[in-house]
Amino acid sequence: MKTLLTVSNVTKVYETGKRKVIGVHNVSFDIRQGEFVSVIGPSGCGKSTLLRCIAGFERINGGSIHLNGRKVKRPEPNRFMVFQGLDQLFPWLTLKENIIFAMRVVDKGQGNFGERAEHYLELVGLQGFGDFYPYQLSGGMKQRASIARALSVKPQLLLMDEPFGSLDAFTRRAVHEMLLQVWKKTGVTIIFVTHDLEEAVDLSDKILIFSKGRLKGQIDNKLSRPRERVDSSYRSFLLKISGFLDSEGSDSLDSKELSAAEAKLAF
Ligand SMILES: Nc1ncnc2c1ncn2[C@@H]1O[C@H](COP(=O)(O)OP(=O)(O)O)[C@@H](O)[C@H]1O
Ligand SMILES: [Mg+2]
Repeated sequence: MKTLLTVSNVTKVYETGKRKVIGVHNVSFDIRQGEFVSVIGPSGCGKSTLLRCIAGFERINGGSIHLNGRKVKRPEPNRFMVFQGLDQLFPWLTLKENIIFAMRVVDKGQGNFGERAEHYLELVGLQGFGDFYPYQLSGGMKQRASIARALSVKPQLLLMDEPFGSLDAFTRRAVHEMLLQVWKKTGVTIIFVTHDLEEAVDLSDKILIFSKGRLKGQIDNKLSRPRERVDSSYRSFLLKISGFLDSEGSDSLDSKELSAAEAKLAF
């Protein structure tokens, strides 16, 4: 498969008053078309920053990001983000209307909005719920609807920032299943941020391990699907990754590392 996304030496520094905080530092990796990639690491290690840079929400301080050879400069519908929060939909619109709203923005003359919205609701297991309002849904259903809305504009890259972080364990299992089905059916490329190791191993082809704003390693996940957490191959793969994470220690740059990193930045 061809390369879809190239992240080269990306650095993002936040400036809050006089303080500078490193979000991500000198991060480089490629993602191929159709891959399911997880990004893991402790809180504060730069996972959301990375996703926000790829989405085009942040101005980066160094490096570059290319999607299909085109430089990423701003948000565009070819990269759609799904967040952790359960209230991403317009509360005054039904699910179908929420999806149609998104489709209209990027419409290239296909029309037929109602039918297409139904198709995406069906894809995420919400057939029959098109006329419901977000407040009438459970958390899992809301996240499904947010995924349906994202897919309805046919993004090349689905960016997911701990999308299931607020759901209980039972609901998570069901939405994992759904997401894998959706991935298989649509062929969309996914970058999935989580701090849950097992979630990363369950879902992805490749795991990017972050620590203190840096990419510490990329591990291919070759476990066959469907993946069973009780399998010995699953357990040993999980151990390998958690060993990697443990060896990285705490989650933020200490002051010496911070000034060394800052010294290298060209503002
Ligand atoms: N808008 C912001 N302003 C200042 N600092 C920020 C901002 N967003 C994130 N940071 C800092 O950048 C670092 C990485 O944060 P983040 O990307 O949110 O990590 P994660 O998603 O892995 O928890 C942290 O030290 C965090 O405090
Ligand atoms: Mg985050």
